[in-house]
Amino acid sequence: MKFLRFSDICASGQATGKRVFIRADLNVPQDDDGNITEDTRIRASLPAIQMALGAGAAVMVTSHLGRPTEGEFKPEDTLAPVAKRLGKLLGREVPLISDWVEGNFQVKPGEVVLLENCRLNKGEKKNNPELAAKLGKLCDVFVHDAFGTAHRAEATTYGIAETAPVACAGPLLAAEMDAISKALENPKRPLVAIVGGSKVSTKLSILKTLASRVDQLIVGGGIANTFLLAAGKRIGDSLAEPEMVREAQQVMDIMKERGAEVPLPVDVVVADEVSALARANRIHVDEVGPHDRILDVGPKTSAKLADIIAHAGTIVWNGPVGVFEYPQFAGGTKMMASAIAHSEAFSIAGGGDTLAAIAKYHIGDEVDYISTGGGAFLEVLEGKTLPAFEVLAKRAGA
Ligand code: 3PG
Repeated sequence: MKFLRFSDICASGQATGKRVFIRADLNVPQDDDGNITEDTRIRASLPAIQMALGAGAAVMVTSHLGRPTEGEFKPEDTLAPVAKRLGKLLGREVPLISDWVEGNFQVKPGEVVLLENCRLNKGEKKNNPELAAKLGKLCDVFVHDAFGTAHRAEATTYGIAETAPVACAGPLLAAEMDAISKALENPKRPLVAIVGGSKVSTKLSILKTLASRVDQLIVGGGIANTFLLAAGKRIGDSLAEPEMVREAQQVMDIMKERGAEVPLPVDVVVADEVSALARANRIHVDEVGPHDRILDVGPKTSAKLADIIAHAGTIVWNGPVGVFEYPQFAGGTKMMASAIAHSEAFSIAGGGDTLAAIAKYHIGDEVDYISTGGGAFLEVLEGKTLPAFEVLAKRAGA
């Protein structure tokens, strides 16, 4: 997809001395006292800010935090803790500016300010045209660097991209798109996708889109249980959606017609409850009893999946294959994580549970690209064009 890149704008001197407005996704988790518990998104946003400062621009950065009510400031909505962490990471003070839409603030070339939670501005969510026009006037260059919010068409993610004199993709947004395109548009084969999660219904469009592209589609969790049902297996009391069996069958049919495959578990780990104290049993998939709950794949299946991963050219990973929070049901996900870490394939991963598994098994350095997007990553897997890319492509005349 064609879009202007901020790196090119800086390299050609077009950002020097100019007002640069960066929309980042600094929506980070905090504890009850407002302390940031995980700052990956702040760190991932640094290159755009440093690039702008390096180019001698007057830099404004904004982000949403949570989903506040527009026009109603509450202390928990403030980006103050983010400003502090950003300042620490940049090694300079980052002033936080409130009520900034009318431009009643100063920022000089070589300086950076953080503009308070953009979702507090009235009209942000619905991309109000008057708000978008005001935002466009604040800057000479708009940089969209918020991949995590790239699936939203709001005033700071879409409207401003239409009204700013120049609109381009920041390094994070561009890197996310480059990695996803590499994995899905022209992948080195075999292309293996891993889709875990509890429900087929919430990931059906992803499963269908992937079914027409990938060579192996590994399903995990409740999704795998519904596929087992579709294959005529008994799953006892396991989490599943019997009403989605037809859809699961369709996905398997699409794959089969293309000579591709959904490798279903041949053995499983079951228990009668999901808890830290549950006693786990490894059994053949045909031995699942009426009160059993399938909570992980068994060792034979793990070995088979590891073999598929070892021979992959490209791996797309979204979701664990078992309840890996508990050690007795973590074997499948752990084995898969290790196989991905050792694989020579280009690997890309995204989504909350997946990132938790990557952190738990310390394989962050071995995965080629870890997406900062939750919902945005999933929408790309569904084959959707995200509003961020649509509007940037429009501005680039594509
Ligand atoms: C996220 O956390 O996935 C992004 O920051 C987007 O947040 P939103 O779902 O509130 O738009």
